[in-house]
Parts: sequence; C-alpha cells; structure tokens
Amino acid sequence: MSNYHIKHLEEYFQVYRKSVRNPEAFWEEIAEEHFVWRKRWDNVLSWDFKKPEIKWFEGAKLNITENCLDRHLPTRGTKTAIIFEPNNPKEEAVHITYRQLHERVCRMANVFLDHGVKKGDRVCIYLPMIPELAVALLACARIGAIHSVVFAGFSSNALSTRINDSDCKMVITSDGSFRGTKSIDLKGIVDKALEECPGVENVLVVKRTGSEIYMEAGRDKWLQPLLDEAYADCVAEIMDAEDPLFILYTSGSTGTPKGMVHTTAGYMVYTAYTFKNVFQYTENDVYWCTADIGWITGHSYIVYGPLANGATTLMFEGVPSYPDYGRFWDVIQKHKVNQFYTAPTAIRALAKENLEYVEKYDLSSLKVLGSVGEPINEEAWHWYNNNVGKKNSPIVDTWWQTETGGIMITPIPYVTPTAPTYATLPFIGIQPALMDENAKEIKGNQVEGRLCIKFPWPSIARTIWGNHDRYRDTYFSAYENMYFTGDGALRDAVGYYRITGRVDDVIIVSGHNLGTAPIEDSINEHPAVAESAIVGFPHDVKGNALYGFVILKETGESRDRENLKREINQQITEHIGPIAKLDKIQFVSGLPKTRSGKIMRRILRKIASNDTSNLGDTSTLLNPEIVQEIMDNSL
Ligand code: WTA
Repeated sequence: MSNYHIKHLEEYFQVYRKSVRNPEAFWEEIAEEHFVWRKRWDNVLSWDFKKPEIKWFEGAKLNITENCLDRHLPTRGTKTAIIFEPNNPKEEAVHITYRQLHERVCRMANVFLDHGVKKGDRVCIYLPMIPELAVALLACARIGAIHSVVFAGFSSNALSTRINDSDCKMVITSDGSFRGTKSIDLKGIVDKALEECPGVENVLVVKRTGSEIYMEAGRDKWLQPLLDEAYADCVAEIMDAEDPLFILYTSGSTGTPKGMVHTTAGYMVYTAYTFKNVFQYTENDVYWCTADIGWITGHSYIVYGPLANGATTLMFEGVPSYPDYGRFWDVIQKHKVNQFYTAPTAIRALAKENLEYVEKYDLSSLKVLGSVGEPINEEAWHWYNNNVGKKNSPIVDTWWQTETGGIMITPIPYVTPTAPTYATLPFIGIQPALMDENAKEIKGNQVEGRLCIKFPWPSIARTIWGNHDRYRDTYFSAYENMYFTGDGALRDAVGYYRITGRVDDVIIVSGHNLGTAPIEDSINEHPAVAESAIVGFPHDVKGNALYGFVILKETGESRDRENLKREINQQITEHIGPIAKLDKIQFVSGLPKTRSGKIMRRILRKIASNDTSNLGDTSTLLNPEIVQEIMDNSL
C-alpha cells in the first residue's frame, strides 16, 4: 500500500486513522519519500495554537523549484509542464516542457537578481493568465524572494494597498490583458497605483497586447530583452522549511485585506499530496484548473501542486463566454483534458445557456470534475454531473480556504462515494470539529455548527504579514486550541460534511471573497453619502450578490438617484474592482441599529433576501420603526 496514492475506501480510512493517530510519523514518511531535500528536518512538527506558532519540518533545507522542476528533468524533461491556451482560439496554444520551463524560470530569476532582488524581498506580480505569470512565481521561489500575486482584476487602489502593506520593491506586469473581446490596460493601472508606492524601484513589463503604453525612465523595463540576455541556469537559493514562500491577500470581515503568509516545506508537501489524491492524477493526464493564479486555487492547484507531481497543467487566458459559451468544452476536447476543476458560479452561468454548447464537444477524456470556492447547489451539481461528466466522472466538491493553503474536506474520486452539495470527508490529516454557541464541540452525527480544525496540517498559513495579533484574533481566539474557519457546516448521519456558508461578514460573490467593511468605506467616501451597509442576497449565477442600503447626506437628497447609483458603483470599481459592484442599491433614511450603535445586519439580510416573514427580535433596536420603512421600499 502506498500512503501517497489512495485508491480504495478502506485504504482511505486506514491512512486517515494513521494520519491522525500519529501525524508526525505520517507526514514524515510522505515528506521523505516524495520530495527532494537539501537537508533533512530536525523536528517534524511543533505547534501552539495559543501563540499561535506552527512549524513543520523545522531545520530542513530545500528549494521548492527543485521539487517542481529540476528533479523532473532526467525523466520528464520533454514532457509538457504547462499548456497555454490563449484568449483567442485562433492563436495557437503553447506547450512548455519541463526543460523549457526550467530554463525560463532560471532566466527570469537571473533578471530579478540583476535588479537587486534578494532572498526575503517581496515582489508583486500583477499579470494576466499568461505563462510569464507561472514563471514569475517560480522565479521568485528560485531565489528566495516572496511573491505577492495580486489578481489582475483588482483596481489601482487595491493594488497599491497590497504593494505597500508588504513593502514590495518590484512589480511584474504586462502592457495589457485580453479577456474575451476586451483588452485591459494593466500598465495604466500599475502606473496609477505606483503614484502611492514610493518603495517600488523597478517595474518589469511583459509584452502581451502590444498596446502603446507609458514607460517611466529608470523604473520601467520591457522584460523580454532582459530574459534573452540572461543566463539560462540559476542556482537555487537554499531555503529553510519555514521561510515564507508567498503572501496572498484575502478579505476579512473588517479592515484592510489580510496578507496570508505561506511557508515553504509544509505548503509544498500538502499541496502536492492533495493534488495527487483529489484529482487521482496519473502520469500522462492533462489537468486543467480554470481559476486565476491571482487566487489561492491557482497558486496551489495550477502551479505548485501539479508541478511538484510532474503533471501537465493547463493555463487558460480567456473567459468561458468567448468566443461563445462552448469555450470550456472546446478546450477540454482540444487538449483531451482528464481532470477539470472549476467554480460553481461558472457552472451556473454555463447551465443557463443552450445545452448544444456542451453536447457539440467530445468530453470523453474527462475522468474527474472538481468544484471549489463556494457551496455548489444541487441543481448545478446535477447539471455538471449529467452534461459534463455524463455521470461517469465523479465530482470532487473541495472545501478549503486561502488560509488553509490546500484542500481540506473533499471526496477522493473513485474512492469516496459522492453526494450532491456535500464536501464529504476530511482529507488525510485533517481533524474538523463543529462548535456550538457556547464554544463547546458538538460530537456525533446529524449536527450543525461552526467549523473549526483541531490539529495543524502542513500548509496552514503561519501568520498575517506584519500583523500577527490579527492572525491570532481572527483564527485562534474564538475557540480554545482550534483554528476557526469562519464557515458553518453540518455533519450528516454518515459523517459527511456540508459547508453551509460564511458565518461572518465575508460575502462570497461569484466565488470571490468580499469583506463588507472595505466596500462600505468606499461608498461612504462618496460626497453625497452619510452611511451605508452591505449584505449579500441569493443570486442564481453569482451565488450571492451585493445589496447596499445607503443613507444620503442632506446635500445628497436632491441628487438624481440613478446617477448616484452609477457613481457609487464607479467608486467601488475604482477602490476595489468591478467584482465588488452592488447589484441593488436602496436609499434609506436610517439603518436598524442596536443600542450600542451596531448595524443589525441580520435584519438587512432578511429584507435583501425577501424573507421577511420572521425578522426575529427587533425589540433591542434603537430605531425599530426604520425596519418597516426599509421593507416597504425594498427592491
Ligand atoms: C468558501 C478558496 C462551500 C468557504 C479555495 C471558504 C466553499 C471560502 C467551498 C474560502 C466549497 C470554498 N463549498 N464553500 N467547496 N470552497 N468555499 O479563501 O466559505 O477564496 O471559507 O479559498 O470559500 O475562499 P478562498
């Protein structure tokens, strides 16, 4: 029996038991047998959820790119590492072999070194889904620089906040990006962001769209000529197991985005191990995850997990609707994709279109279908299962988070019987717990509570960049000795988990986590606005959409309401990005507040969802009369 590749349900239970009875021995064996190390660890695990401090494979030395690239060269040098499928289907797809990828990473790493980037420096990557994006991550890892990828749909404001928070000294971007019929001026967004970022010394620019752009002398350089001149090999920097590999920002309930810090060895071991099992990847498979590398799913399951296994991973630049709604299925047919991993919001959007878009294509290469980012509703699950998988490819509904680094609760395909809307069983090594209102663990089955994890796993984020107190307060203070996920979940009669959704003020819109506070701050900056509150309401494609309740200042009362709505959304687009725009805006004269001045979002959520039959106790409100007014005018 190989603990690395689980093939039967009995084996899953056996390995699971082993992994929780003696986690150190279990992970030590996985680490030893499946990765290359420059020096072995002194200690497999030390942890304290109170501080909190978590260390895996302490004392070990390694470079993750040697595991993702160098070690494959003797056996997989000519194997395709990355397939690049461009936005425009008429543009040819590119196959990059492991040897070519190694060379490209080394060249870029040398360019970074030439520009003064040293081990531990932060590099911001703001690129579309083109091969240079994956290469840039690995080039940072090659020299021990910490990458901070910012999704290229974020606005200049969001970009500058993230650059400054982690003090990036360099930015990698492109002249622009293609998305469907549109091209977006990424460099213009970077230029605007950098007006607020005095710490950035160099900007390296990939040519993609060929559009005319401004280049600031002394700061901005085209990347390609530098790559052409760079040396094609680069000695890997030897890193400690717990050296940071990257920072990735995620929204919180309140305040600025949290720069989650992931470290090297544990992240590598866990993402590789989960990739192998959750997708049942075998040597000649073609694997495709449609996420953007700007999110954790892309980091772990487009780049690091697949490459650590010597897999072929597909990167898609475009959108599911271009040139038509058959694009995903066209790509699967064209590249004979075996594992396909996407988000429920994409499935719901495509399920609305004519079935012919799916039926036209040969999808018989598919073996595994994945879902991630938000709960998948029953209807979408069946559509995916019937029309894409033809009831032949198990759906892995994978629950996890930016903070967890890798997949936590999931079926293993062909091993765990699947059930619509259930993420099913904890992955190997994961010890979930459901907690009640009194912070007590709820044991047994057929129960519902707040989802926590009792024991560290190798890829848990180690801190929030520059704010360890916030890390402790957010994840380790609600329940003693537990990591709190922020999600609710139920455990059914057989022990399967279903994630019921966020229990905090994070709203998941089209699979993107959005905190209400930054959106409200952005609205409140509008000169006509006095105060606002944002809640989510169910949306048949996005999962949730945003509903804003806005109080105008006296000076704003005379303004045209439709214009104001447009301006508010424009302002959100500039501050955060178009993903945070509101679907509905209702102007109100007040907001329901508790006597201590807190907005009672529970009531607003019900009004926004048209579910006002039972509003619960409103007697503690300072202004109970406002509820009726808001209800009467709700949209
Ligand atoms: C939600 C994405 C239900 C959940 C990898 C979590 C899910 C948040 C699922 C993290 C799923 C993710 N079923 N809900 N399969 N996967 N979520 O950080 O609320 O972008 O806390 O990581 O997405 O989103 P993040």
